[in-house]
Amino acid sequence: MYMTSKTNHALQSSLANFDNADGELKVADRLITEIAGEAGTPFYLYDRASLHKRYHQLRQALPADLNICYAVKANPNNSIIRELDALYDGLDIASKGEMMRALDAGSTADRMSFAGPGKSADELKFAIENDIGAISVESAREIDHIRQICQDNNKQVNILVRVNPAFELSSSGMKMGGGPKQFGIDSELVPELIKSLVDDRYLRFHGIHIFAGSQNLSAESIADSFDNILRYAQTLRVDTGVPLPIINMGGGFGIPYIAKATPLDLQAVGLHLSRILQSYRTELPETSFKIELGRYIVGECGIYVSRVLYRKVSRGETFLVTDGGLHHHLAASGNLGQKMVHRPMPITVANKLDHPLEHVNLVGPLCTPLDTFGMRMELPTANEGDLIAVFNSGAYGYSASPLGFLSHNHPKEIIL
Ligand SMILES: Cc1ncc(COP(=O)(O)O)c(C=O)c1O
Repeated sequence: MYMTSKTNHALQSSLANFDNADGELKVADRLITEIAGEAGTPFYLYDRASLHKRYHQLRQALPADLNICYAVKANPNNSIIRELDALYDGLDIASKGEMMRALDAGSTADRMSFAGPGKSADELKFAIENDIGAISVESAREIDHIRQICQDNNKQVNILVRVNPAFELSSSGMKMGGGPKQFGIDSELVPELIKSLVDDRYLRFHGIHIFAGSQNLSAESIADSFDNILRYAQTLRVDTGVPLPIINMGGGFGIPYIAKATPLDLQAVGLHLSRILQSYRTELPETSFKIELGRYIVGECGIYVSRVLYRKVSRGETFLVTDGGLHHHLAASGNLGQKMVHRPMPITVANKLDHPLEHVNLVGPLCTPLDTFGMRMELPTANEGDLIAVFNSGAYGYSASPLGFLSHNHPKEIIL
């Protein structure tokens, strides 16, 4: 029996993903105290079984002919990329560094698609020389650079035009389309651009890419965004007369971070997608459809584990000071965009799941008041040596944190 507030839906759903024995969290059949004893705290722990479970949920819910790609930025750990590259239909990369990591992890360039508003000449050259699957172009100048690199190297490259749509992704924690944006090319400019690419000697026009936003828990708003994307694509197809071999529809599927959040209704998204893809098949017969997910694929497989160093009381309030903090896990401190991940994330005392609850301030070791994972939050009663688990830490955790801040050791990353 877990001692967690029944109204903390996010924590309840995180705990349900893992086993426990005698009030202690188990991951991959191992007690958390054993794992922590061997590894030393703090560490990120990734659970392979959760990755596979999520893959099967996605494949079962979404149309069979929809390609699902993994966005490496969510977690570029070598073992994670290796695992996910084997499961999914391709990788979305956002830098030369991510491409090198993906190659290191055993993937091949033809499975990769490269997006980002500021790709340098060096990055583009590396991608083109290694025969990347496709590049999403985000400005007219970038197209000039790519053409020049192709010409210099006598190469051709597949191009997706990343579109900055006129619509926004409502309910998303971070909007990346609609209005003036650094991402993509404004939708009204796209038809002329596409027509100009048709007979290009170096750039093979391969379709469009729209990524409208991230961390969305509303199936309805995700469905709306897919509707808008396909309506736009269909009009584009008719207006230009140019086939769209690929439509990358983004995704932005979210996971529940805060107490009142409930998980995304994946079945509803899947049903809607099946319906609309079916209805567009006749109008876009040459198109294959794709989404690219990061957080939803990898977020819930990860737990960040730290140890309580001190329990202290200041003017009536209890503080648990741990050996992990915002330098390792910026999102858990609420500082990676307040609209994206609110504090507190789903957190518990991993070796005392069944202890009575109390209200405490959970803080890290850094000399800044920003270094807290939750103030007056409800946690099982903990003492020095106990283990704090921050769930939903598999995405935008380790690699999205200021690891050098205050020069503490970096946390280990363990995959079991
Ligand atoms: C172009 C692109 N694709 C995919 C993603 C992954 O988003 P998420 O982790 O929300 O699925 C992002 C995130 O910013 C992105 O910018």
